[in-house]
Amino acid sequence: MAVYFHGESSNFHLSNDRISYILTVLRNGHLGHLYFGKKLPDRESYNYLQEEALRPMSSNPYEGDRKFSLEHCLQEFPVYGSSDYREPAVEIRLQNGSRIADPRFYSHRVYTGKPILEGLPATYTESSDEAETLEITLLDSVSGIHFILSFTIFRDYDVIARSCKICNGGNEPVYIERIMSFTLDMNDSDYDWIQFSGAWARERFPEKHRLHKGIQSISSTRGHSGHMHNPFIILKRPSADEHQGDTFGFSFIYSGNFIIQAEVDTYGTTRTQMGINPFQFSWLLKPGETFTSPEGIAAYSPAGMNGLSGIFHRLYRKRLARGFWRDRERPILINNWEATYFDFNEDKLIQIAEKAHSAGIELFVLDDGWFGSRRDDTQGLGDWVADRGILPDGIAGLSRRIEEECGMKFGLWFEPEMVNKKSDLYRNHPDWILQTPSRKSCHGRHQFVLDFSRKDVVDYIYNSMAAVIKDSRISYIKWDMNRSITECYSTAYPPEQQGEIFHRYILGVYDLYNRLTTEFPHILFESCASGGGRFDPGILFYAPQAWTSDDTDAVERLKIQYGTSFCYPLSSMGAHVSITPNHQLNRNTPLSTRGNTALFGVFGYELDLNRLTDTEFREVKSQIEFVKKHRKLIHSGTFYRLLSPFKGNEAAWMVVSEDKTKAIVGCYKILNEVNEGFKRLKLQGLDESRLYKINGKETFSGAELMAAGLVITDLLRDSVEQEEAGADFQSEIYVLNAQ
Ligand code: GLA
Repeated sequence: MAVYFHGESSNFHLSNDRISYILTVLRNGHLGHLYFGKKLPDRESYNYLQEEALRPMSSNPYEGDRKFSLEHCLQEFPVYGSSDYREPAVEIRLQNGSRIADPRFYSHRVYTGKPILEGLPATYTESSDEAETLEITLLDSVSGIHFILSFTIFRDYDVIARSCKICNGGNEPVYIERIMSFTLDMNDSDYDWIQFSGAWARERFPEKHRLHKGIQSISSTRGHSGHMHNPFIILKRPSADEHQGDTFGFSFIYSGNFIIQAEVDTYGTTRTQMGINPFQFSWLLKPGETFTSPEGIAAYSPAGMNGLSGIFHRLYRKRLARGFWRDRERPILINNWEATYFDFNEDKLIQIAEKAHSAGIELFVLDDGWFGSRRDDTQGLGDWVADRGILPDGIAGLSRRIEEECGMKFGLWFEPEMVNKKSDLYRNHPDWILQTPSRKSCHGRHQFVLDFSRKDVVDYIYNSMAAVIKDSRISYIKWDMNRSITECYSTAYPPEQQGEIFHRYILGVYDLYNRLTTEFPHILFESCASGGGRFDPGILFYAPQAWTSDDTDAVERLKIQYGTSFCYPLSSMGAHVSITPNHQLNRNTPLSTRGNTALFGVFGYELDLNRLTDTEFREVKSQIEFVKKHRKLIHSGTFYRLLSPFKGNEAAWMVVSEDKTKAIVGCYKILNEVNEGFKRLKLQGLDESRLYKINGKETFSGAELMAAGLVITDLLRDSVEQEEAGADFQSEIYVLNAQ
């Protein structure tokens, strides 16, 4: 891995053993882009990739020169209004109202490792030989603004990480109206665009279309990344598929309002950008101040979408997630939400926990309803003090009982960012919610959003959460967030800074996460936002796992987990077995299939095991044994999607250990079929030359399993459960052990 600089050509070439990213200084001093993709040999100049031509109706910066126009340059940090008409990376408004910027190359430096982004989540290195960072400073001499662009190349991950600092070195305050963290110009537009969109209970379903002329984008205006569009897209060659072909991924490490867009111009070039959504964004930057953008990641794989997912999984597991729990086996948990909702008392919780412990479950999580006046979702949010009517000895007493009497660790639900009007917090501080003067405030699920752009509000919530944590035995926290922001306005800031509030809000969320994870490093955090409404890389920096969706139906979960896996590792996806009929869909699926789906995630239960039959309970015990035996492999292995639940009646995926000696395949058949044909499943990622024993029975070579396939027809048909639980929604797990 290296960053090469060639003074004569002004080329910068970042490369590791597999990828290259090459940029240059253009004639006018702006930064041009030359190449991103498969590794290229280093050479003095790749400037031939920056072509010039006389094109009528172009505008040209140099008088008499009709060939040079920014409109036709591939660029790294484009600006609008001085011959480029596409969307820019940055827009600065000066006091005189002008929005033209002229960011010219000023200096560069290269250093080992990767600096942290103050106050923001970002990928990191653990030793200086893991990455090199190129920092390029551009100067707009009229305003005195410096733009410091940072590009990191990693030795082991085929990505470029980018962010940008804007420093006001001038004499007057300016407004940042737009700042994209990553801009990538590509010479053509022959790509499929894949986005991951959905809604509550059906998050991150892949949707594909061919890139077309004009701007295509996904974004959030909700104050969180949202259920609607995940901050991640794929651009792949139309001939690329899951297993082969040129594939690019763009992932934005941010949890607030974002945009990812591709602009295809009439010459067929593609400008892909990701950054804070400029809609309603405006940041006042006074002289001497610096603004830091979040980080964007672009990855390249020649091995299709599974190859791309493998890059993101490893990067996000190893160099985004942090702390005590990053590499540790995650506890199997039981959560009382679907078991009790708000209807519980301490005895009921203890009964659930005792039974769960006897099944081998390791962590009991008390969900919503334990605090203040929280009898239902209309009241109590914000008052983080246990309701003694339900829990006579508070969380301290309950957590002690769970640990000492039930032999389990204890976890607790919070929704730190929210308040009900019926709460002491709101009665005492009605000005602490986000609200626009003289306007009515919308509620969401009867709740209002605390103004996390204010440090005093974040301090207060930190103190009330820390008091509960210090007083009790808490090993896990589920941090929920159940509504989007409306009437975004902070009464603590002047009018000219109201465009900052969405971003300041999310900085407040990161600040609270940072304080809690620093103060209580052994607590495992799981994020949640009405299921997967904030399942993004920003939050994974603080909480290594997230509740993937409120939909716990096994068949729906196949789709949700399948879609989520394009970017996010299995170790980040909370996945629980729940009761049937399922609470979201009323569907009955076999317990085995509920388990076989959930085990490809961070496994747990969301039910009262006391309500199961003895046979079901025995099955739960064996599921738990299976997960304990294999969770290390499941969370650290290489994951492959094999059959898409969006395309056919069968779905399949697998995970292979790094040394290729073990693998687990999950195979799911949605509806039963009559008189169907013979079926084979081609596996991936095995060692061709090794023999693998399947479920302790027959042995096949890796070559056979990958080229001819595993015969799955009979195994699915023979399932014992078909008689017991009906013929639909069957599944099978195959464990492969190299001989
Ligand atoms: C959200 C979460 C659920 C549960 C409830 C509690 O909907 O996604 O898992 O915690 O809130 O109110």
